[in-house]
Amino acid sequence: NSPIGIFSACEGEISVLRDHMRLQRSEIFGNREFMIGSLYNRCVVLVLSHPGKTATALTATLLIDRFKCGFIIFGGVAGSMHPNVKVGDIVIASEVSQHDLDSRPLCDRFEVPDLGGKLWPTDRTDVFKAAVAKYLKHGFSADFNGVDLAQFHATQPTLHTGLIVCGDQFISSTQHKNDIIDGYKELSRAPLACEMEGGVLAVVGREFGIPVADLRVISDSADEEAEFDFNAFMEGFAGRLVAALVREAIAC
Ligand code: ADE
Repeated sequence: NSPIGIFSACEGEISVLRDHMRLQRSEIFGNREFMIGSLYNRCVVLVLSHPGKTATALTATLLIDRFKCGFIIFGGVAGSMHPNVKVGDIVIASEVSQHDLDSRPLCDRFEVPDLGGKLWPTDRTDVFKAAVAKYLKHGFSADFNGVDLAQFHATQPTLHTGLIVCGDQFISSTQHKNDIIDGYKELSRAPLACEMEGGVLAVVGREFGIPVADLRVISDSADEEAEFDFNAFMEGFAGRLVAALVREAIAC
């Protein structure tokens, strides 16, 4: 029974998951600490990676090849790319893409050279969606009792599934955001969220034949306020919300 690999890019995303983990042992490799043990009654390898595509490729490869994980989950935050997706909402990717990949005229915008895909499906989206939806209906407010989530949403987050785009860029301008949104119109897609890891995780997973998932909580709107909102969210709610999201997903 192979472990589930779980990684995040920032301390604020992983802190609560690490607190909840029953650590058996840890191994430092490739300048990262791979924590091996159990989390919410599952065998896992949990690791804090770094933001961005290079770090993601390295971490995902090690989780698969060295730590023999059979499923890889990224758990973290993302910027909103869609007016219906608000700070505090949850987005589970059904497909991911690299918005900064552009080798035109050799191949199309967003296309991974040689491999050919522009949109990369992720795995178990519907199962995870059902589990998280059930939790939002029944367990969410109880879990967060006493925590003031009202600054993000009146009652509870909205759960979205769809396209999440990734790049080696922190999106913090409306113009940049709109350029990316316009690019995906040609593929008849409206991205829900932007981040810096998911599009690479899916490619690594495909190359090794290992399923992957990208689970996100929205920290900012990828606009001129993004830096402020991102930092406030990281210090406040990110860790707890990411842990709740990952817990519901892997419990199913
Ligand atoms: N992760 C969270 N917010 C982001 C943003 N605005 N751009 C890229 N990655 C993010």
